[in-house]
Amino acid sequence: MRIEIFDDADASMHFDALSELLVDAVHKGALVGHVLPLDPQTVGRYWRDVASSVAVGERLLICAIDHDQVLGTVQLYLSPEANAPHRAEVYKLLVHSSHRDQGIGEALMLEVEQQARNHKRSLLLLDTAQDGAGERLYRRLGWQEIGVVPHHFVDPWGKPMASVYMMRFID
Ligand SMILES: CC(C)(COP(=O)(O)OP(=O)(O)OC[C@H]1O[C@@H](n2cnc3c(N)ncnc32)[C@H](O)[C@@H]1OP(=O)(O)O)[C@@H](O)C(=O)NCCC(=O)NCCS
Repeated sequence: MRIEIFDDADASMHFDALSELLVDAVHKGALVGHVLPLDPQTVGRYWRDVASSVAVGERLLICAIDHDQVLGTVQLYLSPEANAPHRAEVYKLLVHSSHRDQGIGEALMLEVEQQARNHKRSLLLLDTAQDGAGERLYRRLGWQEIGVVPHHFVDPWGKPMASVYMMRFID
């Protein structure tokens, strides 16, 4: 397994695999910005927007690849505000359900930290479903809880869910 930073052309080339990661996660109940039913147009629009954001350099698309298969992905959004040149946000950590619990999520998050360093970002932020696999992973990697937002989102079937805001300082 290797970790790659995709440019917008890579994103377009692996469009189907990235779409499958998102669809798989939503069907398994992940709070990743989408609800069921999830139509292919919505998924397509989402990844096209990500590719455009990558193309203008405001976002890094980090992917885990094995035998040319995209098994996981995460995004690092480089906050563009003039007063936050040190800050970045982590979005959409997704590992395909067929390849979870093998350390791929951790490897992607370690690369997020390295890329943050490379881009001189010392403060990382994210939010994640309370008590989910993501929260456990982030805590294990040293992320600190900022606070819990009750009923922050609904799950893919419409049930209200709390999320946890977390932060991490990068040396
Ligand atoms: C959250 C998510 C990305 C984690 O990905 P992952 O690749 O399974 O993460 P890891 O393998 O690094 O860690 C998961 C677990 O496997 C364990 N593990 C890691 N390597 C292992 C190995 N070789 N053998 C056995 N267990 C292992 C970890 O200790 C961890 O245990 P835990 O569940 O008790 O915390 C994945 O569950 C996912 O995509 N979920 C849906 C989307 C989502 O919720 N994303 C977060 C949004 S912010």
